[in-house]
Amino acid sequence: MHDRLNSVQARDVAYVLHPYTNLSTHVETGPLVVTRGDGIYVYDTDGNQLIEGLSGLWCTSLGFSEQRLIDAANAAMKRLPFFYSFFGRGHDVGVDLAERLISLAPVPMSKAFFTSSGSEANDTAIKLIWYYNNALGRPEKKKIISRHKAYHGVTIATASLCGLPANHQEFDLPIKNILHTDCPHAYRFGRLDETDEEFATRLADNLEELILEEEPDTVAAFIAEPILGAGGVLVPPETYYAKIQEVLERYDILFVCDEVINGFGRTGNYWGAQTRNICPDIMTMAKGLTSAYLPMGAVLISDEIFQALVAQSEKLGIFGHGYTYTGHPVCASVALEAIRIYEDLRIVDRVRRVGARLRAGLMRHKDHPLVGEVRGVGLMAAVELVRNKSTGEPFDASSGVGAYFGQRSIQHGLIVRTIGDSICLAPPLIITEEQVDSLLEKFARALDDTADMLTRAGHSLSA
Ligand SMILES: Cc1ncc(COP(=O)(O)O)c(C=O)c1O
Repeated sequence: MHDRLNSVQARDVAYVLHPYTNLSTHVETGPLVVTRGDGIYVYDTDGNQLIEGLSGLWCTSLGFSEQRLIDAANAAMKRLPFFYSFFGRGHDVGVDLAERLISLAPVPMSKAFFTSSGSEANDTAIKLIWYYNNALGRPEKKKIISRHKAYHGVTIATASLCGLPANHQEFDLPIKNILHTDCPHAYRFGRLDETDEEFATRLADNLEELILEEEPDTVAAFIAEPILGAGGVLVPPETYYAKIQEVLERYDILFVCDEVINGFGRTGNYWGAQTRNICPDIMTMAKGLTSAYLPMGAVLISDEIFQALVAQSEKLGIFGHGYTYTGHPVCASVALEAIRIYEDLRIVDRVRRVGARLRAGLMRHKDHPLVGEVRGVGLMAAVELVRNKSTGEPFDASSGVGAYFGQRSIQHGLIVRTIGDSICLAPPLIITEEQVDSLLEKFARALDDTADMLTRAGHSLSA
């Protein structure tokens, strides 16, 4: 069964349980094993060079060989390999990072709480919201509204927030008090006779209807990634969040902005909240915070929320939440250095310039018979492949068109993320214009291969 697998692949199949993998077919196909990285590239066990077109998991913003991050980790490891922030104790780098993040926040924020991942950051946000409403004497105000196609993590609560079936099915999720409202993707969910503006209004009206049905006094918060990532790089209409925020304000509902993918320049502003004019009460982040060189997440909270936590802990004698690795000093040092590098690179200007080239290059395929929609902002983009270009009808889920594209693009030296038949790209923010052109050339070859495969299978490409 494993004849085609090399020895690392065979041992992988023997010993590793892979996240987000078809565990059944994996036994046959084995893993893609990478052994080293350099800039925007990774190298597999046969020495093939691959552009990491999704920055790993939308996270290695500074590529795979940033010496300044390595040096920061080394120095921090030598100086103070661990200390905690429980019991009112802490360390200088944790203070520096909290101060830095609050100074960078797009709206006034009061405190930073550190975690080791995006899931833990969102999970913490939910706990803080429940604690906050208990402190305010509103024990019924606990429901959190997320959206279909959202991705917020894999803990029991954050997987419940996800709007993707695989996160719920057979895990006995979602838990109670989690609701889902519409996905703001006009290409898929807009009506034929509807403008983007009308679509946004309809979604805001639907949200209000849901809140009224559930009773506003039971709804605590709305959580959103400004630009949805794992849902397939979905870009909501310009005015969508203004309309949503109006509804939330009417019913005293908090806005949690999930910046785990969007933050640190990815969308062409420092924060996704700025790209879509969101005024959050809580912000969560991870990934780009350390460029993924070490695991770290953070939650920023408004002063209003902080004051309620203070009152609650005064009553209870303690704020009973925290992870062993909260504010880990080595991770915090790497995060501080990553933020310095973003500044030195003028990351926002850079993403705008290079991102425009990436999106313009992808746009050249918009008349291709397989391409339904090309979308994106900053350095995140997706090309959605469809069965029928004029109606947008998707391929059957079982047809594996996106997966085929993904295999072909690896053959051409490019790793993409395929979400259904949406081909997603979010390369490291350090990618150069020449490297964008090389990425686009590989993308075009995989698109040609996919069209050839479908033609051979009898699919008419002129539809
Ligand atoms: C928007 C968003 N939020 C939260 C998470 C969860 O982060 P983690 O995988 O670090 O737990 C992710 C991960 O992809 C994400 O994309």
